[in-house]
Amino acid sequence: IFAAVEMAPRDPILGLNESFNADTRSTKVNLGVGVYFDDNGKIPLLAAVKAAEEARLKAAPPRGYQPIEGSPAYNQAVQNLLLGKDSALIANGQVITAQALGGTGALKIGADYLKRLSPNAKVYISDPSWENHRALFESAGFVVENYPYYDAATRGVNFAGMKACLNSLEAGSIIILHACCHNPTGADLSDAQWQEVVDVCRARGLVPFLDMAYQGFADGIDADAVAVRAFSASGLQFFVSSSFSKSFSLYGERVGALSVITASKEEAGRVLSQVKRVIRTNYSNPPIHGGALVAAVLSSPELRQMWETELAGMRDRIRAMRTGLVEAIKAQGVAQDFSFVVQQRGMFSYTGLTAAQVERMKDEFGIYAVSTGRICLAALNTKNLEYVAKAIAAVTKA
Ligand code: LMR
Repeated sequence: IFAAVEMAPRDPILGLNESFNADTRSTKVNLGVGVYFDDNGKIPLLAAVKAAEEARLKAAPPRGYQPIEGSPAYNQAVQNLLLGKDSALIANGQVITAQALGGTGALKIGADYLKRLSPNAKVYISDPSWENHRALFESAGFVVENYPYYDAATRGVNFAGMKACLNSLEAGSIIILHACCHNPTGADLSDAQWQEVVDVCRARGLVPFLDMAYQGFADGIDADAVAVRAFSASGLQFFVSSSFSKSFSLYGERVGALSVITASKEEAGRVLSQVKRVIRTNYSNPPIHGGALVAAVLSSPELRQMWETELAGMRDRIRAMRTGLVEAIKAQGVAQDFSFVVQQRGMFSYTGLTAAQVERMKDEFGIYAVSTGRICLAALNTKNLEYVAKAIAAVTKA
């Protein structure tokens, strides 16, 4: 049965890890995948997570099945972070949350549920978007198209183009929006622009699906929730996928959630029953460990404070690497102005490096980046910064 099976292409992001791991050069640097490394090049185990893990180990809880939608304590904590703990929507019972296998798992549950709900709707993603958005929604059976987003000339958002496109869509179209720290460009909408997007979604009857994978990496927990809060204040129904991979440094534990904001408590009950069907036929119910750690940290004032301080530390270090990279490239005598890197938000920079330049960085320097020119600033440190700047100088000069 496998004789005619073709080799599938490597994943554009995770496939880079495979090539990076096989590279034997000691100077290699992986700027491909969106993972935060500390200044020693290590993925941190956050002190708040470690404390929660030690307490859990000591308590030695049994490992029964979780509810299909996961732990109630975890799901409550997710809603509080997204919507604010005093949200009337939460108090009214209008919000459902299902623990998911990372942000990707949340998107997949949402996509599969939407396919049952609106089989003929089209899905629109930003141009460009995280590579997996298209693949995920296509694999759920949707036709996926782009809406204008990035303006290479200004290195900002082509908001007029985006708005005009959204205004032209059919009612019921599903719009995937990056709630903050746009991946891959690092260019976000202003608060006023978010309000305009909300208004267009209302006027056109669009179905917003916000992807929130980097809450806390731009300005802070509440500041980064501005888009989610604008939608929640609007009275619209919408979807949110969220992830703790980056903000809790729990990548491999696959800790995410799908939340759906409905019109009433009664509606929420029906929607949850359908989301549970999707989950049951995919993986039955989610794993316990990662979600339990997040819930423990978020429900303890002391651990939560510790976590917020550690998250701010990650955010500040990435900012320092942005400034450091711009200065280091300048010090290499590169005429091209890279100061835009400092304005971009979150983990990534859309550098403008071409696919050929990215290829040269890999071949000549062992520096891996996504072929679109996206680099992960969170993989830079005080030891590899100059080496990376030298490589960028070499490939952009010649
Ligand atoms: C990324 O964009 O690099 C991350 O979100 C990791 C992933 O799953 O692609």
